[in-house]
Amino acid sequence: MHKIRVDLHERSYPIYVKNGILPFVGSILKQMQINPCVALISSKNVSALYKDVVELSLVREGFNVNYILMPSGEANKNLETVQYLYDKMLDLKIDRGSTVIALGGGVVGDTAGFLAATLYRGLTLVQIPTTLLAQVDSSIGGKVGINHPRGKNLIGAIYQPKIVIVDPTVLKTLDFRQRVSGFGEVIKYGFIRDRIFTQFLLENSLDILSLKNLDHVNAAIIRAIEIKSFIVSADEYESNLRMVLNFGHTIGHAIEQAAGYGTYTHGEAVIIGMCGALNISAEMGLLPAETAKQYIQYLQKIPIPGSLKKYSNDNMYEAITHDKKIRDGKIQFVLLQKIGDAVIRNDVPKKMIYNTFDWLKELHFAKEY
Ligand SMILES: NC(=O)c1ccc[n+]([C@@H]2O[C@H](COP(=O)([O-])OP(=O)(O)OC[C@H]3O[C@@H](n4cnc5c(N)ncnc54)[C@H](O)[C@@H]3O)[C@@H](O)[C@H]2O)c1
Ligand SMILES: [Zn+2]
Repeated sequence: MHKIRVDLHERSYPIYVKNGILPFVGSILKQMQINPCVALISSKNVSALYKDVVELSLVREGFNVNYILMPSGEANKNLETVQYLYDKMLDLKIDRGSTVIALGGGVVGDTAGFLAATLYRGLTLVQIPTTLLAQVDSSIGGKVGINHPRGKNLIGAIYQPKIVIVDPTVLKTLDFRQRVSGFGEVIKYGFIRDRIFTQFLLENSLDILSLKNLDHVNAAIIRAIEIKSFIVSADEYESNLRMVLNFGHTIGHAIEQAAGYGTYTHGEAVIIGMCGALNISAEMGLLPAETAKQYIQYLQKIPIPGSLKKYSNDNMYEAITHDKKIRDGKIQFVLLQKIGDAVIRNDVPKKMIYNTFDWLKELHFAKEY
């Protein structure tokens, strides 16, 4: 079992990664002296696949498990679902000493995490992420929250879990495009922090995505978690360092918004956004053009459906200017001065951003896998 620690003083916590760890959730939580009353929260698909194994392991160790099924999908990551969960928790008489276990992707983790952060001013939270994106990103760092009709993730808190338990084997049942979505974030960690890791990921991208070699998948998840944990430990409240986690996200969010949420998965948009950011890094004279080109070519081997051609540059630019990555009216771009070394720049000319949109429209990604 691999153990990574998120170092946040009295709120520090471990992340356990191991293939086939789900049947041991009960014994791990017992060892951590988690209170016997737990609320196990999951959504339909994940529940059908993994609820029984987790529940059984908890019951075997003497936990009193209250299972709550929550509606799945981004559209249900809202206040109505949280209200429903509050009601269920109160109906089931789940008290202040209890623990919320979030079993699922980022939607379940963010929503159940927000419930845990707010009910009785805070319940113990355990994250068991089941998508690649949730395993390497959303379950770590303590951001929990829900959407408001006017925007994504507008309501939330920073509330750290007690432990995160990651079983990479659950990715076998995850759609290929959902794996790509998480993989976008994994590569991002490489680009901002670790050149050798980036090289490893990009040379093995299709093997990792098709789960051909679970050791590679495991290694990728562990290194990704280490990098995210390091950054979160150094900057919990996103004052500065944590901003580098937005690499690929300025253009990525613009694409998601212009195309309509759901057209591209988040990670697909981030992969396109990283190509844009590499291109801008070269245009700004930070990265040799040859280096940028080489890494863009690697990224193009990842299958991403669709084309950006039908989206207007004005709409994409408009989306960037409405994004939260604006400070003092200036767009903050995370760029690379080396592979593995990110810088924040707010002086990218508008014309260069428009040119990058045009360039991205001509960039082709693999269609098949
Ligand atoms: N808190 C953070 O720091 C943070 C960071 C990034 C993203 N997010 C949030 O995460 C959410 C996206 O999360 P996501 O990409 O995990 O999507 P998701 O939670 O919607 O899961 C995607 C789909 O995969 C299914 N699924 C999950 N695990 C599965 C498995 N092992 N096998 C088969 N199917 C499975 C789910 O039922 C769902 O249909 C967004 O709401 C985003 O805002 C939060
Ligand atoms: Zn992201």
